Amino acid sequence: MDLASLTQVTRKRYNRIAPLYDLMETFVERARFQKWRARLWSRVRPGRILEVGVGTGKNMPYYPPGAQVTAIDLSEAMLARARSRARKLGLDVDLQWMDVQSLAFPDDAFDTAVATFVFCSVPDPIRGLQELARVVKPEGDIWLLEHVRVDRPIIGPLMDLLNPLVVRMVGANINRRTVENVRRAGLTLVSVENLSGDLVKLIHARPPQAQASRHPASPG
Ligand SMILES: C[S@@+](CC[C@H](N)C(=O)[O-])C[C@H]1O[C@@H](n2cnc3c(N)ncnc32)[C@H](O)[C@@H]1O
Repeated sequence: MDLASLTQVTRKRYNRIAPLYDLMETFVERARFQKWRARLWSRVRPGRILEVGVGTGKNMPYYPPGAQVTAIDLSEAMLARARSRARKLGLDVDLQWMDVQSLAFPDDAFDTAVATFVFCSVPDPIRGLQELARVVKPEGDIWLLEHVRVDRPIIGPLMDLLNPLVVRMVGANINRRTVENVRRAGLTLVSVENLSGDLVKLIHARPPQAQASRHPASPG
């Protein structure tokens, strides 16, 4: 299947899941995700922020006060829920229907980009990550909270085996190597924190230009 068709399949899956999404995650959200979201957002500096794959808007309560947030998603049904959450929280968020694989923003438009549990479902994650690097300022930050493939005997191959079924059911790949994808996309990896064994990672990256300006070539 080509990228456009895969992207349409992802969009339809999340449109289908949207009414049940918050319910499906109630337990894990309270037990784990809320703590991890708080940890990620405590590091985000105020300024122009892009949240990609906003989903139903579960990160909204953590947005830094005074930040100018633009949030996008591929699924209209998820966006509708995010819109209603923003209204309830009294937040002024610019919500747009958009694909992270081809963002309609100019270069260097944001200070920070954030994605939580998104790059497991983006059909071409490298392309999406490169788009983040393009729209974030060279000294800006890219924060990702992602579950990844566990590279251990038995569990890793088991994740590979179960992946097609899980993708069909909930839209997320459970065997993505997102840290490796960040590197492959050419981003500068600043730090990776393990939050739940080595299954869930908090990843801090920067656009590739930041590396060049921090380590200028020595003359001669
Ligand atoms: C697992 S949900 C996570 C939602 C939210 N970030 C959270 O933490 O609850 C993944 C979200 O990414 C969105 N998504 C998937 N592929 C996308 C793409 N190519 N561009 C933008 N959003 C995408 C889905 O529509 C869905 O809302």
